[in-house]
Amino acid sequence: DITKQSPEYKKAKSLVDSLLPPSLDESDPSLLRATSFVFASAISRAFKCKDIKHGDYQCNAAMPLFQKLKALGQLPPGVNSPVGMAEAIVAAIPNDNPILDQLTVNGPGFIMGRIKASYLSRWVNDLLLHGSPHKPKLSTPAGTVVVDFSSPNIAKEMHVGHLRSTIIGESVCRILEYVGHDVRRVNHVGDWGTQFGMLIQYLKEEYPDFSGNVPNITDLTEFYKNAKQRFDESPEFKKISQLNVVQLQAGDRECREIWQVLCDVSRKEFEKVYNRLDITVQECGESFYNDKIPPVIEEFEQRGLISVEEGGAKCVFVPKFKVPLMLQKSDGGYGYDSTDMAAIKYRLTEVKASHIVYITDFTQGDHFQMVFAAAKKIGWVTDESHRLDHIGFGTVQGEDGKRFKTRSGDTVRLVDLLDEAVARMETSLKERSNIPPEEIHATASAMGYGAVKYFDLRRNPTSNYIFSYDRMLDTKGNTAIYLLYAHARLESIVTKGKAEHGVDVDSLLKEGKAKITLSHKSERNLGLHLQFFADSIEETLKDLLPYHICDFVYALSIAASEFVTQCKVLGSPEMESRLLLCRATAITMRQCFDLLGIRHVTRI
Ligand code: ARG
Repeated sequence: DITKQSPEYKKAKSLVDSLLPPSLDESDPSLLRATSFVFASAISRAFKCKDIKHGDYQCNAAMPLFQKLKALGQLPPGVNSPVGMAEAIVAAIPNDNPILDQLTVNGPGFIMGRIKASYLSRWVNDLLLHGSPHKPKLSTPAGTVVVDFSSPNIAKEMHVGHLRSTIIGESVCRILEYVGHDVRRVNHVGDWGTQFGMLIQYLKEEYPDFSGNVPNITDLTEFYKNAKQRFDESPEFKKISQLNVVQLQAGDRECREIWQVLCDVSRKEFEKVYNRLDITVQECGESFYNDKIPPVIEEFEQRGLISVEEGGAKCVFVPKFKVPLMLQKSDGGYGYDSTDMAAIKYRLTEVKASHIVYITDFTQGDHFQMVFAAAKKIGWVTDESHRLDHIGFGTVQGEDGKRFKTRSGDTVRLVDLLDEAVARMETSLKERSNIPPEEIHATASAMGYGAVKYFDLRRNPTSNYIFSYDRMLDTKGNTAIYLLYAHARLESIVTKGKAEHGVDVDSLLKEGKAKITLSHKSERNLGLHLQFFADSIEETLKDLLPYHICDFVYALSIAASEFVTQCKVLGSPEMESRLLLCRATAITMRQCFDLLGIRHVTRI
């Protein structure tokens, strides 16, 4: 009873599409039979087998199918158990189908199967033909996705907490763009709010000549601290500061001018970090929404959704949360909640986003769940009309397991941290590689930044982690350094194939003569892993966590290293096919690096 309109059908169809190499003829009847198996799996979820010993894929559809048909009184003749159902499915799949092989029924009716080597060869050949791995098709139409990430605060140094948002956000954007979404990368900079009152006041007092003598960021961090100290100590300073906030929000010229100075100085510093890390993000900070807040509050009021607290604050209560969102404070000012409600409305109605992703530390989880709930309550979105996600990440700890601080106890500056990673990489490259000195800095930067990013991306973001240069720069294990070496090694085999044996992979590809056969066990295994690429993208699209891609690329590089140790490549009778397999793996690795925001290097 699955119709073509049902979400299950669409989901299953997209999975099948993503599994099929484009060159396969979809009208082939044996293929249709085989895909019905994949269909069945997709509906109840097709699994990559946890342990590759038992099979490549596993299908758990027999049990629900049995229950369903039993309830309908439509069991096929002779089928009277889930195992029987599984056996009937297996029997219905012809042996000469192009995809599946070695089907077995295990346990209470699980079907395990392998992918045929001929199918895998075809997949890899297609990959080489297109110069990139086969892209999974989307189960929902491509749309506009707003990704709100990085979002540091003006006049404060960008710290390691913002680093996580920046790294994860960039990768999430790249993945969504890769599958065809129109991604709006938004930097929701903290450039508004009460902290500006004290900053403006402090600047007025300390730098009367501020317009001619712009303070720089190192001063600005110090400056923030000092302003805060004055604010905490002097009731008078506090009072004028609060007045400044009101004036700033009302558009007072001098306040705006000082505010602009502070923003510009910070922005320049943020840009430096973004440039180093290849981050693209458009600033659209809190201040942008200043004039968009009153109409939002009015809309809530008109719908009778505002409760006025003692003292006059305007609040919205949402289901499951005891504390409300505060849309207007008792003094009439707007805060973080107000801005986020105006921002979500703007993104839904003006940007026409069908999906919004927020990436911040996990402590803001409740805030975003409340923002989402309020948007539902007022009817801007429903669960069906839009997708709203908050990706919350844990903290980064120092090597002693405590908060990440410098020896003097200050918060670690992001630029220092990045410098250190590159410096250590330079030292190691000088010691153990023979790349020309003029290339060392660029290579060390790509590797150092790549290592910092990968160390973060490869784990589930909810976990806290200990920042360790030694571990992230390790040449062994699940690190960017290991992967970048593995990739460079594969390309260097390809280079040797041409230089020493006259087999030029590039011209084979250009002439369309590339043909791979996967006969050895480890060749087949590598082919299978290449094909898992699509699964890793599918998994990532579900929860937007790039670690699936890290897991994939790490497993791929292990399969590749098994292949090159077990199969002679250079000078073997299979040299051509094997060099092509090296190239296909390198292409896939580069695709992953790109999705993770990591630059690859060819010469290490
Ligand atoms: N500036 C905030 C912070 O540093 C993050 C902003 C996240 N985005 C948002 N729309 N609230 O914690």
